[in-house]
Amino acid sequence: MRICRAISRAASSLKLPLAWFSAACVLALAGCGPRKLPQANTYAAQLYAERCGQCHRLYDPRSMTAAMWQVQVKAMQDRMRTAGITPLSPRQRKLILGYLERNAGTD
Ligand code: HEC
Repeated sequence: MRICRAISRAASSLKLPLAWFSAACVLALAGCGPRKLPQANTYAAQLYAERCGQCHRLYDPRSMTAAMWQVQVKAMQDRMRTAGITPLSPRQRKLILGYLERNAGTD
């Protein structure tokens, strides 16, 4: 936990929104944030973290059912287009949705 405080202090002294953003990422990695992603060391999990953590915190795959993920990923494609972020390629979409479905919750 000490490292988390140190990072927050460093970030606040920089007074940059970007610094806050990077600090949040580092904090999540350092274990101060949400639970670790399932299958965190797979390419699909990393792609999920990279593409779906750009605008908000990463949602735990277990927090939604497979059917809900299908709806969400579709909705997020539109969000990305509106925000001017490159939407998921068919391959990325398949990998990310597959990852979320495999690790989805059941109710
Ligand atoms: C362009 C920015 C952006 C990106 C990239 C993005 N999201 Fe989102 N997401 C949002 C915004 C804005 C909201 C909140 C508004 C809403 O619920 O529509 C949101 C909300 C959500 C929610 C919560 C919806 C709810 O009903 O509570 C989930 C789950 C989610 N995103 C998943 C994803 C996944 C999965 C990806 C990657 C495929 C992703 N997001 C990528 C902008 C983004």
